[in-house]
Amino acid sequence: MTDTPSSEAELSLAEMATEVLTTADGRQKTALSRQHAARWFAYRRGEAPEIPVGTASPPLRPARPEKPELLDPRDVPKRKPGSEAGRIALLHAVAHIELNAVDLHWDIIARFSHVPMPIGFFDDWVKAADEESKHFNLMCDCLEGLGSHYGALPAHAGMWRAAEDTAEDLMGRLAVVPMVLEARGLDVTPGMIKIFRQAKLTQAVEALEVIYKEEVGHVAYGSKWFHFLCGRENLDPKDVFHDLVRTYFHSTLKPPFNEEKRAEAGLPPDFYWPLTDTGAQPAG
Ligand SMILES: [Fe+2]
Ligand SMILES: [Fe+2]
Repeated sequence: MTDTPSSEAELSLAEMATEVLTTADGRQKTALSRQHAARWFAYRRGEAPEIPVGTASPPLRPARPEKPELLDPRDVPKRKPGSEAGRIALLHAVAHIELNAVDLHWDIIARFSHVPMPIGFFDDWVKAADEESKHFNLMCDCLEGLGSHYGALPAHAGMWRAAEDTAEDLMGRLAVVPMVLEARGLDVTPGMIKIFRQAKLTQAVEALEVIYKEEVGHVAYGSKWFHFLCGRENLDPKDVFHDLVRTYFHSTLKPPFNEEKRAEAGLPPDFYWPLTDTGAQPAG
């Protein structure tokens, strides 16, 4: 466990978030993340002293371990998913996404703590950050079970781009991170589960099922707080969502979509279909 720079009892939530962001090692980052989440929820249950939301100066980019080497997505070697090396590469890519997700959820807390929001906003993102920490650890356990580890392969650079682009726009952050990027996770995870089920890798199947179930909640938190802000400012959520995604997301959205899970998370088809290449939902 890392030593914390000041007594934990004195830290605000925004400072706790910043501590996680400035911790480089993945396992240390997730351990600290889970510890801070446990403290926050102990306070919220009335079992620990109050933790103010506070303010902090989070780094523009979170600290990262020396490995994995971060490459342009075009330079990350592609491996066949049907091979052992391909399955390890897939788990490694998911571990990398989960580590970024830990930081993304703490970053929304630290970076926007000056925006007046109901306390439930902070509860939701602390819970999401705690779950992402569990997801990263689960993926690391799977990699280690297969004789590899996080850092053994190169990983995508640029995963933090959405955070930098929306560093000053809370609605933009909610639109792009939970409602586009995490919603994409709902589309692709069932296919990954199938790959590991076919390979009879039960540990990976069970881990991905946990991830799949909990990610619906993260998309739902995004949609809930996006709608909350639109309501507060008297804006039409669908139009604002389209404008913000076109401003901050540098691509179109790619079907097929997991319409059922997206609906469960509060994302109706008229939010995402207009942002595809064709701009419309196919008839029938
Ligand atoms: Fe996750
Ligand atoms: Fe997530």
